[in-house]
Amino acid sequence: MNVLVTGGCGFIGSNLVKYLRKHRPSWKVVNLDKLTYAGNLENLTDLENDPQHVFVRGDIGNRELVDHVILKEKIDAIMHLAAESHVDRSILGPEAFIVANVLGTNVLLEAARHARLSRFLMVSTDEVYGSLGPTGLFTETTPLDPSSPYSSSKAAADLITLAYERTFGLDVVVTRCSNNYGPYQFPEKLIPLMVANAINDKPLPVYADGTNVRDWLHVEDHCAALTLALEKGKKGECYNIGGDSERQNIQIVKAILAVVGKPESLIKYVKDRPGHDKRYAIDASKSRRELGWAPSHVFEKALGDTVKWYLDNRPWWERIVSGAYKTYFDSQYATRLKG
Ligand code: NAD
Ligand code: TYD
Repeated sequence: MNVLVTGGCGFIGSNLVKYLRKHRPSWKVVNLDKLTYAGNLENLTDLENDPQHVFVRGDIGNRELVDHVILKEKIDAIMHLAAESHVDRSILGPEAFIVANVLGTNVLLEAARHARLSRFLMVSTDEVYGSLGPTGLFTETTPLDPSSPYSSSKAAADLITLAYERTFGLDVVVTRCSNNYGPYQFPEKLIPLMVANAINDKPLPVYADGTNVRDWLHVEDHCAALTLALEKGKKGECYNIGGDSERQNIQIVKAILAVVGKPESLIKYVKDRPGHDKRYAIDASKSRRELGWAPSHVFEKALGDTVKWYLDNRPWWERIVSGAYKTYFDSQYATRLKG
């Protein structure tokens, strides 16, 4: 099997490329990534001399390139992860999200349709469902009701993917997962950002009162689910993937401070994010039943291991927060903390 992974140099993508090479050693993994601010080839240094991993730098929106890669590498299936992925950035500038997430996905779908690929796996998100109140879970039939430019661009891509099955008969599967955590996450997202700030004795900016809830999914559990969805998912179906680990943001932040050994006085409650979804929680029973998948990580232990990974791999994230992206981080946190 020759699989094209898009966005394979990002957080989930790089974990997925490594997961596939380890657990599906006969597969060739072709990794198409533009290397935006969030893409980092260093995430894949272990695979430098692996002939079964082929890296191609390029944009999913470049149809000529996508066609060429599919033909040259004899691609059978696509696992599509490439995206602009951060809600806060989508509030600062929605257009890049429409271009990469909506138009980029459509280019890949057209290429997959014309090349008659055997499967197109669309990695969507639980954020397409919008926000829950204090009770209830998202199922695959929950109506889509996204709140942010990020989640609405993902909802558009998710629905266009499903339309390619109904209209053109393309074999598609859509997965909708909850918040991932683990190594190599860009330090703008909650967990790595809070670890980096705690280590550097900087304030930890918590939106509103910190009671918003996310369901945390270890990235390796997610990679296992994506692989099974590619292999066993039913054509035209959606699968929710969640970690059964609902936590309030403030619980996460306090747990991080405890592992790093820093005081809770570093917590700074800041003005809420516009359109901030209150709670996400996933019913993943369909994935358990039809894919034979279940998460294997226990949250508190895996969060501790994740924090330790960032402590042990300080140069990896320090190059980001104090190097090329220092101005972005400085201005973002000045604004957030002032608000
Ligand atoms: P990320 O931001 O860490 O990585 C995205 C990758 O896509 C980067 O390597 C980037 O260079 C690449 N990319 C962006 N635009 C591209 C383009 N036009 N052409 C080629 N490559 C491009 O994102 P992530 O957190 O790894 O998320 C991966 C996927 O999973 C995304 O589709 C995201 O919407 C989805 N998702 C993520 C989470 C999460 O918790 N991280 C949760 C639900 C769904
Ligand atoms: P984030 O990691 O940005 O993921 P998402 O918005 O896709 O869920 O945020 C996770 C939660 O943490 C979300 O409720 C917003 C909150 N948060 C903060 O309170 N402060 C921050 O600086 C960030 C980045 C997030």
